[in-house]
Amino acid sequence: MPVWMGTSWKMNKTLAQARDYTVRLVKELGDRDLTGVQPFIIPPFTALATVREIAVDDPRVILGAQNAHWDDAGAWTGEISVPQALDAGARIIEIGHSERRQHFGETIETTRLKVAAALRHGALALLCVGEPAEVRDAGRSTAYILEQAEGALAGLSDEQLRSVLIAYEPIWAIGEAGRPATPEELRGPFAALRERFGDRVRGLLYGGSVNQDNASDLLRIDGVDGLFVGRAAWEVEGFLALLDIATAHNSTDS
Ligand code: 13P
Repeated sequence: MPVWMGTSWKMNKTLAQARDYTVRLVKELGDRDLTGVQPFIIPPFTALATVREIAVDDPRVILGAQNAHWDDAGAWTGEISVPQALDAGARIIEIGHSERRQHFGETIETTRLKVAAALRHGALALLCVGEPAEVRDAGRSTAYILEQAEGALAGLSDEQLRSVLIAYEPIWAIGEAGRPATPEELRGPFAALRERFGDRVRGLLYGGSVNQDNASDLLRIDGVDGLFVGRAAWEVEGFLALLDIATAHNSTDS
């Protein structure tokens, strides 16, 4: 199983910035040995096709979309479908990020529909789960994230689950106001995700204030197959440094 190392740019980067980042990334990766590491970038929709045009020069880097609608086409103003996202270069469809659940009405039911749409079109579904601080404080983190994951993945066959990645991103760990979860805080949730979905899904990722100082320790947690990064990978040097950490982890691991 590769070490997944990916970034969502969230609502950041103009086309010029996206182009600059990707040109530099592809150039720097050059003939770097990425054996056992799976890099991915999830740009905003507007930059996807531009990033794809450049990233085709290094097919090891796969691209994703930050969201997609469950319907294939139609009167859904402002939405983007899975076929459109794939057409623009995505192979991964991110679903259920907490920012979408908190601010845009994403529910367990809509995540279930979106996972189904991603799988129907042969994409990888990257399902994000994560609890707010009050739930953590009440000691209910594991129950909460299992409910989110089980709801979104209900009824999927083992073959379908092989195209699903789950990212555990506690809400209290994400963004400027967040603090990274400690390995102690992550052991329980990852053990539960591993027990419930284990090797049936493509991989289990951690996200939330990942940086160059904590990435290596986070990758060593049992059940963590990779990291999903925001701010620390928005500059290409940061992403390259994290890819180096993943490579080093992989070589000490095997
Ligand atoms: P940060 O790494 O900026 O905390 O964001 C994590 C995230 O939400 C990735 O999806």
